[in-house]
Amino acid sequence: MDDSQVFTTVSSLRKQLDWRAKDSKVGFVPTMGALHHGHISLVKQALKACDLVVVSIFVNPTQFSNSEDLIKYPRTLQKDVDLLNTAGDILIFAPGIEDVYPPNFENISVDLGDLGTVMEGQFRPGHFNGVMNVVKRLFDIVEPQLAFFGLKDFQQVAVIKHMVNELKLPVKIVECDIIREASGLASSSRNVRLSEEQKVEALALIHTLHLVKALVLTYSPKKARKIAFKEFKKSGMKLEYLEIVHPYTLQSLSKKWVPGANACIAAYCGEVRLIDNLQLVTIEEK
Ligand code: PAF
Repeated sequence: MDDSQVFTTVSSLRKQLDWRAKDSKVGFVPTMGALHHGHISLVKQALKACDLVVVSIFVNPTQFSNSEDLIKYPRTLQKDVDLLNTAGDILIFAPGIEDVYPPNFENISVDLGDLGTVMEGQFRPGHFNGVMNVVKRLFDIVEPQLAFFGLKDFQQVAVIKHMVNELKLPVKIVECDIIREASGLASSSRNVRLSEEQKVEALALIHTLHLVKALVLTYSPKKARKIAFKEFKKSGMKLEYLEIVHPYTLQSLSKKWVPGANACIAAYCGEVRLIDNLQLVTIEEK
């Protein structure tokens, strides 16, 4: 297998795309690097569905509300490239900040309404504005027909889909299942910052989500949340939120379960902020 090519400027990537992408379906997997099995699974789905796949690696400063978090975010470009080389023939786009945000860069502003004020929106002010801007910019550069996002970032997927609808962007968002380690811990770039003991402690996230799911038939969402909240408090982690939400509006459910109801959790394991979520009620396929 040929090594994937790494492009570090918009012009070099565009040149390659203009040459290779004629009449072919371009798939795009945006990442911030520190790649793991979850990313590779997105890339494999993209390779299956598309003729040409671009993976971007760019740690986007504008989506970090905490500067310490940005500094500590793992940066492992060579390892990422090696890993992508095992997945297939991919165009890797690893731009510098000046390529993503040139002097004439214009911020987009999309009203997220209530989607943007809950959960991540509440605890990470400005985060989704940063995510939408970088994703829109990357879409403009890559011009993909399909873009692949992991459902671990459940709210991010809802936000991106909202942006695509609002701005009528010609790209289809493909939602990809969460990939977990054998223990059940959701794959995340932040997991490399966890010690072995913390990786065990962090299982409180998925255990709590499973507990909520086990309570669906017996209790209301409000009561199930209360029970799970109490249980989570016994772990060593510091909870930011545990919410049971409607799958599209992301508003909290209180009395009634709905198809696609989802439990979302965010908590600190030591200094590392982790998120996870689980679908509680299946959505009937039409
Ligand atoms: O999910 C991520 O890794 C980032 O939010 C994304 C979509 C690459 C934008 O920087």
